[in-house]
Amino acid sequence: MAGERDIIAVADAAALATAAADRLLARIAENSGRIAICLTGGSSPKALYELLATDPYRTKIPWDRVHWFIGDERFVPASDARNNMTTARGLLLDRVAPASHIHPILTDVASPDESAARYERELKSFHGKDRLDPARPLFDLVLMGVGPDGHTASLFPGYPEVEETTRWVVGVPKANVEPFVARVSLTLPALASCREMLFEAAGEGKRAILTRVFSGERLPAARAHSNGRTVWLVDNAALPGNFRGN
Ligand code: 6PG
Repeated sequence: MAGERDIIAVADAAALATAAADRLLARIAENSGRIAICLTGGSSPKALYELLATDPYRTKIPWDRVHWFIGDERFVPASDARNNMTTARGLLLDRVAPASHIHPILTDVASPDESAARYERELKSFHGKDRLDPARPLFDLVLMGVGPDGHTASLFPGYPEVEETTRWVVGVPKANVEPFVARVSLTLPALASCREMLFEAAGEGKRAILTRVFSGERLPAARAHSNGRTVWLVDNAALPGNFRGN
């Protein structure tokens, strides 16, 4: 239900990638028309991207119907390995997706603000509406990760961009964690406009922040939710003690 979060525990990082890939296929199966998927950066989704590029996933995805977006970008050139869409392209998209279905956040423009304004225009044009409507979500699926400070996408705790209620995409002049480069990020309302928001968190290093997020602290990752379903896929090493055995 909207606003609620489902926590699904899996054995390890490999099982997590498989579970995420299966959820992505299930969301695709629910939509017989044009599909929009919003990818994420960081290291957590890499195994998923690799998996989707291999069979059976690769052949099951109707590539001609799926469009690929990115929830946040580091403001570095596309040639820089830290660029989130470059990572997704290298592991997945450039092998299988039509080039016109890949929608990067541009970083070869004057500023993160300009990049944000352009991406917002692109999203609005793709959506065919310039207002978000809970009855007609922008994305079928939004992938997310969580950082050690509780950020998600490039929405950092205490930053004004987290409070944005009107814009769909914002420039973020300074990052709170590495890499310390400016960012461009979708806002909480734009990210919420999806049938499913799917977080991936694996490894012991995530347990401390998951404890804080799941205990209800008002961190960006805890405030991020879908207008549809919000699912956290967490492996056993990352799962806080009080959620074990549920
Ligand atoms: C980014 C991300 C960011 C990421 C988290 C988790 O640009 O860095 O989109 O929000 O999802 O920081 O990163 P890891 O998966 O590397 O732990």
